[in-house]
Amino acid sequence: MSILIIGGGGFVGSLLVKKLVEKRINVLVLDLFIYAPPEEVFLGFYESEFLQVVKGDMRDIDLMENLVSKSDNIIHLACISNDPSFELNPDLGKAINFECFYPLVKVCKKEN
Ligand SMILES: NC(=O)c1ccc[n+]([C@@H]2O[C@H](COP(=O)([O-])OP(=O)(O)OC[C@H]3O[C@@H](n4cnc5c(N)ncnc54)[C@H](O)[C@@H]3O)[C@@H](O)[C@H]2O)c1
Repeated sequence: MSILIIGGGGFVGSLLVKKLVEKRINVLVLDLFIYAPPEEVFLGFYESEFLQVVKGDMRDIDLMENLVSKSDNIIHLACISNDPSFELNPDLGKAINFECFYPLVKVCKKEN
């Protein structure tokens, strides 16, 4: 089993990824890593054979098609997660939190 976690480098994702890797479940993380690089976010288990990391943008549909095709399950956590961050650039926030969601669902359904 492999799980694609979109936004796996954030607050919730990093905790979830650690638990899954500890259970020896294959995890593929796609994240922009806007807070810290993956070596820091996954400190202590970055080198695990159960963890694969891709730094990229979920709005890149070709990339998402590729990653979804390699995954059995998908957990979507990527977002601009709080009001002050959203207000810094509302267009970007809307693109990430809202506009790319349906295209992403379409990619996931296509693979099933
Ligand atoms: N943190 C909480 O206490 C909490 C509570 C309830 C629900 N949630 C929900 O859980 C989800 C995740 O929250 P969080 O606190 O982990 O957020 P977070 O901001 O810590 O993490 C979001 C991650 O998404 C990534 N990201 C943003 N745009 C991206 C893009 N275009 N492509 C790829 N990656 C991108 C960021 O780099 C970041 O690592 C959200 O839907 C949030 O509403 C969080």
